[in-house]
Amino acid sequence: MSSVRKILVTAALPYANGPIHLGHMLEYIQTDIWVRFQRAQGQQAYFIWADDTHGTPIMLHARKRGIKPEQLIAEMDAEHQRDFQGFALSYDHFGSTHSASNQQLVEQIWARLETGGYIEKRTIQQFFDIERGMFLPDRFIKGTCPKCKTPDQYGDSCESCGSTYSPTDLIEPRSAVSGTAPVMKDSEHYFFKLAEFTDMLQDWIKSPALQDEVRNKLQEWFADGLQSWDISRDAPYFGFVIPGTTDKYFYVWLDAPVGYMASFADYCEQHPELDFEAWWQADSEAELYHFIGKDIVYFHALFWPAILHGAGYRAPTAVFAHGFVTVNGAKMSKSRGTFIMARTYLEHLHPDYLRYYFAARLGPGLGDIDLNLDDFLLRVNADLVGKLINIASRCAGFIHKLNAGRLADVLPDAGMYQNFLDQQPAIAEAFEQRNFQSAVRQIMALADQANQYLAEHAPWQLARQPEQQSAAVAVCTQGINLFRVLITWLAPVIPVTAERAAGFLNTPVAAWTALQQPLLQQTIEPFQPLLKRIEQSQLDAIIKASAGSLEPNTDNATAAAQVSQTDNDMISIDDFTRVDLRIARIVAAIQVEGADKLLQLTLDIGTEQRTVFAGIKSAYDPDQLVGRLTVMVANLAPRKMRFGLSEGMVLAASGAQGGPYLLSPDSGAQPGDRVK
Ligand code: 2FM
Ligand code: ZN
Repeated sequence: MSSVRKILVTAALPYANGPIHLGHMLEYIQTDIWVRFQRAQGQQAYFIWADDTHGTPIMLHARKRGIKPEQLIAEMDAEHQRDFQGFALSYDHFGSTHSASNQQLVEQIWARLETGGYIEKRTIQQFFDIERGMFLPDRFIKGTCPKCKTPDQYGDSCESCGSTYSPTDLIEPRSAVSGTAPVMKDSEHYFFKLAEFTDMLQDWIKSPALQDEVRNKLQEWFADGLQSWDISRDAPYFGFVIPGTTDKYFYVWLDAPVGYMASFADYCEQHPELDFEAWWQADSEAELYHFIGKDIVYFHALFWPAILHGAGYRAPTAVFAHGFVTVNGAKMSKSRGTFIMARTYLEHLHPDYLRYYFAARLGPGLGDIDLNLDDFLLRVNADLVGKLINIASRCAGFIHKLNAGRLADVLPDAGMYQNFLDQQPAIAEAFEQRNFQSAVRQIMALADQANQYLAEHAPWQLARQPEQQSAAVAVCTQGINLFRVLITWLAPVIPVTAERAAGFLNTPVAAWTALQQPLLQQTIEPFQPLLKRIEQSQLDAIIKASAGSLEPNTDNATAAAQVSQTDNDMISIDDFTRVDLRIARIVAAIQVEGADKLLQLTLDIGTEQRTVFAGIKSAYDPDQLVGRLTVMVANLAPRKMRFGLSEGMVLAASGAQGGPYLLSPDSGAQPGDRVK
């Protein structure tokens, strides 16, 4: 292997079907830090990715908006890239799976797989929506869970009891697109014979290609036996037509990973010194890494290496999976204002804060990463502003005041500087192993030492005595050099701040080898605050803005709900079933002090109690309501009212003749029963 490593890195391709949120950003930031680190070591590293543009949800989303899928994906591309640049992601190329290069590669790989005997045809039965004339993917079929009987579950798994099943097991299945009952229909499909690659995959997973947790999971799948994979879909579909057919398309999950290759091919077109084949051929010396979420391991650690191998290409060097993002210890949630879009974040906060916080929490494993907003504010302010930037801000003024901005000729404590550099291999190894939290911890421990050095040598006291002024300049030169070391190591994590620091130091902040030469006898610029503190009001503004933002529609179900609205005044059955109406027993009702119309109700809905403020005081004596059954909207986002939090809504009628009249079921209904 040559001494400069050739490294190709990808992040998972985002669906061109909705906005980027902080859950996505964890992976892109992780990928970007690793690539920037590799470049800073002098490696030839490329970060290549693209939008994932095909499939039923994108087709239906475009149809719903009355535009062509091409227009939707062009809009998404622009929106996504604006966010990525806002977070200072240093990708070399961002392509699209809907590209000529991808089609060409997909067709070439397909032809090679067919020739190799790895494709079989089989007729399968699938649910078909007669009204819309389309076969329905599992996520576009809803019905009652066969195990726990929870209504309104997807065709592949139940969100309530977690069981997985096939759509035909659902009770009363219906199409999420039209709301009609689907029928079973025959269709011929193409399958990739994954089992033929069992030996190859067994060998591949023995290499250091996978994290232990992933390897163990794969062993379970091997034990179950590898199943052939259905890689075709029927028209109508947005994707590439399978050659030799007119109405069969490649499944989006086949052409998406090929998009990694195609995007790199496009990049090679623009950079003729790069030879695409040399990076992808079976015996390539280049390294290939895929950063992905733990939910898509199956595609990347089984299908993808097998397809590459079957088509005569190299397999990935490694697949790096990470966990999910939680906010304040829980799944991101719109009602709590924690489903935060990348754009919303960027409207209020500097990208380096989040990059730093994620890095400080990321290890090499698959554990989930919690963005605790209180901890985020404290940690970023204490570490970045209080420790790191503070070193530069304490020193720069004296260099300017006492020495016209010029650094001293020698370091007063070269031994200490060398001690810092001696830590570099351990810090580099932590970055290499994606143990960013360890790298950050080591760097911050050295930042503490730098601050301690300044506290002990107190340049502010030396500066007051004329005969000590050159000593003050020397101490501050030491401080500035320690700062330069720390910011250089942290540059992959906080690149925007590092870039500003480079301006202040009048020296590029990039290659780690440059640190061997300290900065001496040269001028630095006057200090400008490189990064401000996070204010609580900024976090409050993000939560407020996120509580009003749209749920992401990357999820198929949301796309289905969006396309199900047939006309402006009518809603579909699917829209209606999104409203969770429940029978509730009023267990307490009290007057609300200071409110003319409201009563505070405590409602029992079987599984829990809710507090709801209802505008029914004019018609009801609170005592008469206790024990009565009524109907409530159970999935209404909680609303903060002047008198407290209202966790739902009760239903009441009113008209010209009076009201409100609280709705009640016939006797026999039980708290928690669903109203349909
Ligand atoms: O899960 C997803 O969001 C997919 N769009 C990832 C695709 S990664 C690759 F295979 F293209
Ligand atoms: Zn269930």
